[in-house]
Amino acid sequence: MLHTLKESVEYLKRKIGDFEPEVGIVLGTGLGGLVKDIKVAYSIMYSSIPHFPISTLEFHSGKLIFGELAGKNVVAMQGRLHYYEGYSMQQITFPIRVLKSIGIRHLFVSNAAGSLNPDFKKGDLMILNDHINLQPESPLRGINDSDLGPRFPDMSEPYNRKLIANGLEIAKNEGIACHEGVYVAVTGPNLETKAEYKYLRIIGGDAVGMSTVPEVIVANHMGLPVFAISVLTDEGFPEILSPFSLEEILETAAEAEPKMTSILSKLISSL
Ligand code: HPA
Repeated sequence: MLHTLKESVEYLKRKIGDFEPEVGIVLGTGLGGLVKDIKVAYSIMYSSIPHFPISTLEFHSGKLIFGELAGKNVVAMQGRLHYYEGYSMQQITFPIRVLKSIGIRHLFVSNAAGSLNPDFKKGDLMILNDHINLQPESPLRGINDSDLGPRFPDMSEPYNRKLIANGLEIAKNEGIACHEGVYVAVTGPNLETKAEYKYLRIIGGDAVGMSTVPEVIVANHMGLPVFAISVLTDEGFPEILSPFSLEEILETAAEAEPKMTSILSKLISSL
């Protein structure tokens, strides 16, 4: 792992010269709009970076965008990788290791998720304050490299408390409907049955999605503070569940995206 990491990092450092990103941002499904607000310095295709997995979803464009956002140097992953695409957990999380190695000190993650909490409506935002991992394995399974992090990383505060408080405060001041809650990660790509939505709510979930948790585990392994936010694109309420529509999810994500971008930009500016 250290060898492949070194090759990717060296390649990127040759490309970006003395540009030093302070913040890493992972953009979720339908949430790439934040890139418009970045004053782009370098845009690098995943496919050109040694050892980088390539996103297989056509609505993810697969680029690392280096530039300035809200007065800070950032690097955004436009196009995230999902376990359901067939990658290993190590492949999905490799870019997070690369971003940490090129200097990021904070990780911001966004995703589209289904609401499980009857008080959280479609189109609302939810800042993650914890998670339940129902994906079948941890990205840390296998031999641990202690240069990267400990064998048994603590997960008592997977999402940085101060960033959560600041994020909620910003949302309140902006008049944006934004909750905090627990994200449950499932494998997908199939959506949940009514019985599964009911179960996920009973075990303590407020939202469900197919991403984020592997990246968050790896960030915690490396001691990287995380802020994560979901756009609630559909309602997984068993009594009134309607058939899933990708178009509807992408439409809701696009509608809510400016609110999320506004919170992220202000939070990044306050770092
Ligand atoms: N379930 C799982 N993943 C999702 C959902 C959902 O309802 N909505 C968006 N991603």
